[in-house]
Amino acid sequence: MKLFIDDANIEAIKELNEYYPIDGVTTNPSILAKAKRDPRETLKEIRDVIGEDKIIFAQAVDLSYEGMIRDAHMIMDLLGKNTVVKLPSTPTGFKAMAALKKDGILTCGTVVYTPMQAYLAAKAGASYVAPYVNRIDNMGYDGVGVVKKIQNILENNGMDCEVLAASFKNSMQVLELAEYGVGNATCAADVIKGFVKNAAIDGAIQDFVNDFEALTGKTSMSELD
Ligand code: E4P
Repeated sequence: MKLFIDDANIEAIKELNEYYPIDGVTTNPSILAKAKRDPRETLKEIRDVIGEDKIIFAQAVDLSYEGMIRDAHMIMDLLGKNTVVKLPSTPTGFKAMAALKKDGILTCGTVVYTPMQAYLAAKAGASYVAPYVNRIDNMGYDGVGVVKKIQNILENNGMDCEVLAASFKNSMQVLELAEYGVGNATCAADVIKGFVKNAAIDGAIQDFVNDFEALTGKTSMSELD
């Protein structure tokens, strides 16, 4: 499963990109709004931080078909290769996905709450579909179950589209989908850090250092005479 950072906090992206095996960054207009500056600057800086080989997902904001096409081209001009344009999985979005595919622009059908939205986005030509796990959970449905169903639909119909599972609030939601073999997940920086934030891990590591120091008086192998 590829792992993306669902965030526009540059410092957090720098840290995760350096220390964690991440595959790129996903954004949406609300995430960009949190950065409180020109969204083009934020997106450009994300591209500079992660380099041209990792993927950035950026969302078209305009809700008209013509506007989606314009937004998509503007995003591609801004961010270059390895960019995927997110479009809402609605009838207008489906039309834009089909048109952009013809232009060679990769799209992601986002705002997916139901398997049938994902099916239609994939059929329209989206390369990814982004179901919102935690938001579905909050509605009283099974977010992980919806993603598994979407994965089955894509696989069983031989559709050329990958799941980009999104909207996670805890490690368990991600873990279940990794186990199921879902292709991609995107999580806020804090959720990713939570994967390894565990007092037992920290304690075990410190015990090793303490035991070594008690034996040698040193805290690293390279310090030994
Ligand atoms: C990704 O496509 C979504 O925009 C994002 O993951 C939504 O996350 P949220 O439910 O935490 O806002």
